[in-house]
Amino acid sequence: MNPHDFKIPADRLPELLCAMPKAELHMHIEGSLEPELIFALAQRNGVVIPYASVEELRQAYAFTNLQSFLDIYYAGASVLLHEQDFYDMAWAYLERAAADNVLRTEMFFDPQTHTARGVDVKVVIDGLHRACVDAEAKLGVSAALILCFLRHLSEEEAFETLEQALPYRDKFIGVGLDSSEVGHPPEKFAKVFARCRELGLHLVAHAGEEGPPAYVWSALDVLQVERIDHGVQSAKDPALMARLAKERIPLTVCPLSNLKLCVFPDLKEHNLGTLLDAGLAATVNSDDPAYFGGYMNENFLQTFAATGLTAQHAWQLAANSFEGSFIDDAAKARYIERLNETFARFAAA
Ligand code: ADE
Ligand code: ZN
Repeated sequence: MNPHDFKIPADRLPELLCAMPKAELHMHIEGSLEPELIFALAQRNGVVIPYASVEELRQAYAFTNLQSFLDIYYAGASVLLHEQDFYDMAWAYLERAAADNVLRTEMFFDPQTHTARGVDVKVVIDGLHRACVDAEAKLGVSAALILCFLRHLSEEEAFETLEQALPYRDKFIGVGLDSSEVGHPPEKFAKVFARCRELGLHLVAHAGEEGPPAYVWSALDVLQVERIDHGVQSAKDPALMARLAKERIPLTVCPLSNLKLCVFPDLKEHNLGTLLDAGLAATVNSDDPAYFGGYMNENFLQTFAATGLTAQHAWQLAANSFEGSFIDDAAKARYIERLNETFARFAAA
């Protein structure tokens, strides 16, 4: 455990949350499209969008549940056509991540949202990957891509997507499962995840965002994922909580997303502290930052202000993010060392 945590004055906690190095393990790159960029790309590509202005689009961001968000999110992605569009979107996010002291990010992308519109998967992957390469060189941010299958579509379509993407296998590190959760349990994708496991891809899945603890169990037991995305509904199942804690399965929690999609009525009610105090490897992430009101530091600041989490929790969350990332052990150790240096600086100051 970090030796400096208790010596940090409470009034310096917000500054520390922003300054501390961190990894982001759950963000959808299409969810980083700000309304301004949606309008700029619509104009550049001659795509008509059903909103008159940036303000009108932003006003539509009043969600009642996951599906009400997904409908607008897929509409927003319709402006992405060319390799440069994917690059520009990813670069804008990576600059914001760097400003929030995100040293490592593992970004989801949804190829089926684009291939359904006739955009080649090569265009998608090349644009995103070029931004990842530039982020390392120009921003000092290590960035990698995780291909997500849309769970409201069939397993057969997931297999087709995998086939289309395999020529670019060296440009993504893993696969995930996203989109409408309830009614589309993880086991629907058992075969395609088994194939991805054989291919040596990392495996993650959204589970327990709106869906029941049973979906978290099957993501672990059937899909054999290494991380659970969201997973906040696990708190309803004590046996599941015990397993997640014992196996230190990372949970990529997204507090502002949960607030905006009405998973919790108020940030004060969020169970992040409960998960951490039960020994789970929870992390903080932004999910779809352009739609949910904040990037990484905003998630940390608002959640800590609402729930009263401490510097000890802050250290644990940042350490969990590096531990749960798909980097090698030497890189993890270097990042945790930088985390400890930041805490030491705040304790001494
Ligand atoms: N796709 C983008 N954001 C998502 C979320 N929060 N849950 C499921 N699918 C998503
Ligand atoms: Zn998500």
